[in-house]
Amino acid sequence: MAELLPVEPFDMVIFGATGDLARRKLIPALFHRWCDGQIPEPSRIITTAREEMSTEDFLARAAETVNGNGANSERKARWAEFSRLVTYVRADADGEGEGWTALKEALNGDPAKIRVFYLALPPSVYGPVCAAISRHGLVTPRARIVLEKPIGHNFHSARAINEAVGAVFDESAIFRIDHYLGKETVQNLLVLRFANMLLEPVWNANGIDHVQITVAETLGAGERAGYYDRAGALRDMVQNHLLQLMCLVAMEPPHSLDGDAVRAEKLKVLRALRLIRAEGAKKDVVRGQYTAGVIGGVPVPGYAEEVGGTTKTETFVALRAHIDNWRWAGVPFYMRTGKRMSARRSEIIITFKPVPHDIIQADAGVLQPNRLVIRLQPDEGVKLMMMTKDPGPGGMRLRYVPLNLSYAEAFEQDYPDAYERLLMAVVRGNLALFMRRDEVEAAWRWTDGVIQAWQDGANTLHAYAAGTDGPQQAALMLGHDDREWFDGHD
Ligand code: BG6
Repeated sequence: MAELLPVEPFDMVIFGATGDLARRKLIPALFHRWCDGQIPEPSRIITTAREEMSTEDFLARAAETVNGNGANSERKARWAEFSRLVTYVRADADGEGEGWTALKEALNGDPAKIRVFYLALPPSVYGPVCAAISRHGLVTPRARIVLEKPIGHNFHSARAINEAVGAVFDESAIFRIDHYLGKETVQNLLVLRFANMLLEPVWNANGIDHVQITVAETLGAGERAGYYDRAGALRDMVQNHLLQLMCLVAMEPPHSLDGDAVRAEKLKVLRALRLIRAEGAKKDVVRGQYTAGVIGGVPVPGYAEEVGGTTKTETFVALRAHIDNWRWAGVPFYMRTGKRMSARRSEIIITFKPVPHDIIQADAGVLQPNRLVIRLQPDEGVKLMMMTKDPGPGGMRLRYVPLNLSYAEAFEQDYPDAYERLLMAVVRGNLALFMRRDEVEAAWRWTDGVIQAWQDGANTLHAYAAGTDGPQQAALMLGHDDREWFDGHD
């Protein structure tokens, strides 16, 4: 059974507290950890934004998201208790005005207490807000800062942000969030690989034919279209979530789970990732944008319509990536991500090499390679596809069946959402779940290559109807290698 160990008391300042992230993720996450007894009473949550409002108003708005209309009396009582930790302070994030004096007062107290600054703000202000935090004397010995992705929009802007934040906070006090690293099933990748003897000896170019990573969403750009149209799928998803997943699949065993040990291994993968240039992009990259379609029987508009004009932003990317090191030489890593796809599905599929010599008669059926299907969400689980003999008389017949670990069936309890785990990890100081500066910059260096290739006209934007699996060019890319995208539920 999960053991819920309380963290040390802390003060957390959330900048951008009236925004979408704070409302949908941060406040609910803190409330749930409070309900589970992980947040001790002397902790304080100081929410801040530009809007003029009282703490009561802020809490009333937050309660709507957290409790909806259906909270029972016990949940309401817990919310009332949790509310005692929360204060709202109006302040300008640019660091001027009376708000900062109020912020300082709200933070008054033991300077040895853990102090977390959470910047739920656009990355362009990370540097100025850090400078303001420092100017107002709010950096205490145990202060730390949490930054949301994206850190910049290319290598140079990421480096500038990292410099500015690093001028105030030591790297060991900087927690760069990639919320995929907080997902239960993503953490399980480390255990699956490094706590089982079975996989590691074949986890290389000798044993593995290729790897597929799919992160498909049914949602469109929606309310975030303003941000999304400037970012696109490559910057929004590949540069961070997909590359992080790839690192966890491909990295060498770290000597421990210590933050720097894990991150040093991930960095080596990112540095070994072959740069994609314009010539390569023509065959290794597919860009797409959804047009109107139907998802789950409901008609949905095309992306351009949602954005309200013509746009060249991609909502789908598929890539063939290569990691140029001894372990992975010649093993393609196919990655794809898109919005408005046929189903919400994030999974990693490892296809192993075929057996070296087939002793089964052809009429028994086709030998298929072993496949490890790691289903990250939804229907979390791990499946190992194996060839078996179809039982019963009638000669030898082959059947491809899964050894199946379904989380829902195997584990009875629910587990916390990624943000709940990450917020507690910040307070505990567990850096392993966060991206280090050099990782972010290495990921941008590679991503910039693809962006440059696009600017050089390497890839046209292909249309795909909402509710499908992306443009057919993505299927053709694998078809050229005599492979196909595999759906773990097939
Ligand atoms: C975010 C992206 O980082 O991840 C969003 O900015 C995307 O565009 C989201 O929808 C997906 O996260 P999850 O946890 O729903 O898979």
